[in-house]
Amino acid sequence: MIRPAPQPTAPAGRIIAIASGKGGVGKTWFAITLSQAIARQGLRVLLVDADLGLANVDVQLGFQPARDLSAVIAGISGVRDAAIAHPAGFDILAGRSGSGALAMLDAASLGAVLAMLPQAAAEWDRVVVDLGAGLEAPQRRIAAAADTLLVVATEEPTSLTDAYAVLKLHARDRPDGDARIVVNLASDAASGARTHAALARAAATFIKRNVKLAGVVRRDAKVRDAIRHQMPLLTRHPGCTAARDVEAVARDL
Ligand SMILES: Nc1ncnc2c1ncn2[C@@H]1O[C@H](COP(=O)(O)OP(=O)(O)O)[C@@H](O)[C@H]1O
Ligand SMILES: [Mg+2]
Repeated sequence: MIRPAPQPTAPAGRIIAIASGKGGVGKTWFAITLSQAIARQGLRVLLVDADLGLANVDVQLGFQPARDLSAVIAGISGVRDAAIAHPAGFDILAGRSGSGALAMLDAASLGAVLAMLPQAAAEWDRVVVDLGAGLEAPQRRIAAAADTLLVVATEEPTSLTDAYAVLKLHARDRPDGDARIVVNLASDAASGARTHAALARAAATFIKRNVKLAGVVRRDAKVRDAIRHQMPLLTRHPGCTAARDVEAVARDL
């Protein structure tokens, strides 16, 4: 087996996409909390909900967006006008709730989303994109357009195989790309590290890619409580286990 040489981690780029393959691994929650953590470092952050079929950023945060991505796709407004300021300190470009999945986007609409990303990256310090589950062609295109892809996985075998599939497609689309693993819902740090090691081993062997660990986020009952109250975690439970774990990911990016 060829063991990839350890590489120093270069800083993540401005556009950070969050993918997983499998649904329900905490992508949307993580994208929200990461955005809040980066904003607390003093950076300007735009969170883009590109999980168009479900558009759950607004649900998790309990607001009804007056404007959303559909206005950008339709060419009605630019990204700056379509974004909404959240009191937690970052901006949100909401998804189009109930109006069709990202996988169903026609070519022109996808083109509009892809054209919007560099405009957003020129206006905000970081653009965090929640891609939703799966990796159909439109999601692949957006993932490939991002500077850094964070693949969220859990310890479950189905999540691992799906995360590996995402890494494989991304390596095909962006042979030079920067993809990193976030292990969420980990029972502890060591078990999260083992999950990353298993994925990294498969990636090194079969796709000849050195896939770094962006961080381990432990399972924490405070996460569900914050979502139930439709509040961002770092506002409702600052300093809790999962909050500290996501803050560490934000620092290391
Ligand atoms: N670190 C965590 N600890 C505890 N529960 C979590 C954690 N991450 C996610 N969850 C739970 O998982 C559920 C699904 O999260 P969500 O962000 O909707 O996943 P996805 O976007 O991947 O479908 C959340 O409602 C939350 O209760
Ligand atoms: Mg989601």
